[in-house]
Amino acid sequence: MSSIETVDLTKRFGDVTAVDSLNLRVESGEVFGLLGPNGAGKTTTLSILCTILKPTSGSASVNGHGVTDEPSDVRKSIGIVFQDPSLDNRLTGRENMEMHAELYNVDRHMQKKRIKELLELVELTSRADEPVKNYSGGMKRRLEIARGLIHRPNILFLDEPTLGLDPQTRGKIWEYIRKLPSEENITIVLTTHYMEEAEMLCDRVGIIDHGRIVALGQPRQLIKDIGEDIVSLKLGDKSRAEAFKQLSFVKNVKVGETVRLVVEDGAEATPRICEFATQNNIKLRSLELRTPTLNDVFLYHVGRELREENANSRDRMKSMMRRRGGR
Ligand SMILES: Nc1ncnc2c1ncn2[C@@H]1O[C@H](COP(=O)(O)OP(=O)(O)OP(=O)(O)O)[C@@H](O)[C@H]1O
Ligand SMILES: [Mg+2]
Repeated sequence: MSSIETVDLTKRFGDVTAVDSLNLRVESGEVFGLLGPNGAGKTTTLSILCTILKPTSGSASVNGHGVTDEPSDVRKSIGIVFQDPSLDNRLTGRENMEMHAELYNVDRHMQKKRIKELLELVELTSRADEPVKNYSGGMKRRLEIARGLIHRPNILFLDEPTLGLDPQTRGKIWEYIRKLPSEENITIVLTTHYMEEAEMLCDRVGIIDHGRIVALGQPRQLIKDIGEDIVSLKLGDKSRAEAFKQLSFVKNVKVGETVRLVVEDGAEATPRICEFATQNNIKLRSLELRTPTLNDVFLYHVGRELREENANSRDRMKSMMRRRGGR
């Protein structure tokens, strides 16, 4: 059964089309990721699915309920962890959980049991009675995830679950998220602009740019689809990159920070690339052979890299402000 289905879902803010005719299906029990750069439309999509924003046109159903017709049924069946932290810092971890349980009408007896098991799940039992203001960023994020699960939702939405966290804490959060579908019998929809996060966590990803899905599928399959190997070159003069298209075994040439050639067999291609460069007077500063990543998938479909420096300055500023705890 599909947990989520969108049909031509569109959201405009004035001239900006944040979500552009999105057609998406998320199956029950999946970990599904929306991967895209700043400003791609990830939060907007999630906000529509969570009934926080109304679509401009098109439709979406969540757990079988229409987001515009039956918003309260949708809300009851989902848990949300927002991109911006939303805990009460003056309350303890446990109190934050209790407040949320009340909000969702979880009965008192269930509350206790549920809070206990969720605090254990995210390893916060020993710190549960301290005010949240004493928590580290990673602890806060773990508490928010636990809190989002308190009313046993069918779907958990996580907007940038590890934004701004150190790699170790990020790894820990990945562990919890991976455990959830089996332990909590839940579907997870998350957004991220970290490629490795999408690769590690998601059964399927939708790569999104300017509100449109540019590629959809299992991370491994998407990577496989673009080719076998990547030869990454640093050239004395990037404008010469196109010349490599003349080589029959080069399937694709993209110019980003480095010049990337998608080739079928990297080991075979490498010496021939060097030879070609010498013959054509192209200065090679360095050459690296590697297997492709989701960043290469993004580059392949969008023509630029999935990196923050590509975001427009307004979105970049927005994301910096968030990291500093502002709004
Ligand atoms: N309330 C709003 N009013 C006007 N424009 C908005 C609003 N919310 C989002 N936008 C615009 O819609 C586009 C998509 O924004 P959105 O927040 O969905 O991106 P995102 O993919 O979540 O980015 P990030 O990685 O920075 O969180 C951006 O151009 C953004 O500036
Ligand atoms: Mg966002």
